[in-house]
Amino acid sequence: MDSPLQTLLDDLLQDRSLRDPDQLRRRIDALEQLESWLFNRGDTLTPSLRERGEALTAELEAINDRLYQTIRDAIRHGNGADILRTWAASPHSVADQESYGPLDTLIAGVLDFKEPGDVPEPGADMVFYQPTPARDIFDFIERASITSRDVMMDLGAGLGHVTLLTAICTGARCIGIELQPAYVASARQCAGELQIRHAQFIEQDVRQADLSEGTVFYLYTPFTGGILREVLDVLKRESKDRAIRVCTLGPCTAIVANEPWLKADGACDARRTTLFRSL
Ligand SMILES: C[S@@+](CC[C@H](N)C(=O)[O-])C[C@H]1O[C@@H](n2cnc3c(N)ncnc32)[C@H](O)[C@@H]1O
Repeated sequence: MDSPLQTLLDDLLQDRSLRDPDQLRRRIDALEQLESWLFNRGDTLTPSLRERGEALTAELEAINDRLYQTIRDAIRHGNGADILRTWAASPHSVADQESYGPLDTLIAGVLDFKEPGDVPEPGADMVFYQPTPARDIFDFIERASITSRDVMMDLGAGLGHVTLLTAICTGARCIGIELQPAYVASARQCAGELQIRHAQFIEQDVRQADLSEGTVFYLYTPFTGGILREVLDVLKRESKDRAIRVCTLGPCTAIVANEPWLKADGACDARRTTLFRSL
C-alpha cells in the first residue's frame, strides 16, 4: 500500500504548474508539507522515500532561489519597483489572516540578510526587534503616497525592510536609524549588494538623531514611554518648519493619535498602518 508521503510525492511530481515561478505560495505549502515529513517523521521513512522527498525539496527550493535572484537582478538594474509591487498585489503572495505569509518569504529571499551578530537586550522603554509584515510595508508606501521628492526616515529600523523596500519602490531617499550595530551592519550589507544607493543606515539612538531632513517618518512601535514622548516632541518641533507625515503600526498608534498637532488620515487601527499629517 502507498504511504501518505508516497502519495504526496506522486501528486507534487505530477503537478507541473508547481514549477511555474508565480506559484510561490503553493511551493511554500508543498515545502512545509515535505519538511514536516522529512524532519518530524523521518525515522518512519524508507531510504528511497526519504531520497525522493529530499530531491523534490531541493528542486522546489532551487526554483524559489532563481525567482529571488531574478528580482535581485531587477533591483540592481533599477527595475525592482514594478516587480515587487506586482508581487505585493498578487493573490499568490497574500496571507489569509496571518500577519506574515508568502510575501514575507519572498522578501526574505530577495533581501537575503546576513544573519546579524549578537544583539543585547533592549533598554528600558525600547522594543525588541520584529520586522513589519511585508504587506504592511507596501500598504505604508501606498498610504503615505511617497515620491522621489520625499525623505523617509524609519525610526528604529531593525534589519531595514521598510527602508530598503521604500527606497526600491519609490526612489525616495530612505534613512533607517537603528541603535543595534549588528542590525545596521546587515542592513548596510544588503543595500550594498542590491546597489540601493538611496537607502542609508545610521547607527544611533533616535533621540540623538538629526531628523531635520525627513518628510515621512515611520514607527513600528520601536519604543514606548519616555522615549516615545521625547521623539514625538522632536517631530512636533520639526513640523513647525514643514509639513510632515508620520506613519505608525502597533500599540504606539494610540499614543500618536492623541497628539494635537497631528491628524489621522482615516481610521486608526493598531493592526494596520495609520498615516498622520501634521497640522
Ligand atoms: C519593532 S522593531 C521595528 C523594526 C523596523 N522598523 C521594521 O518595521 O521592520 C523596533 C526596532 O527599534 C530599535 N530601537 C529601539 N529603541 C531605539 C532607539 N532609542 N533608537 C534607535 N533604535 C531603537 C530596536 O533595536 C528594533 O530594531
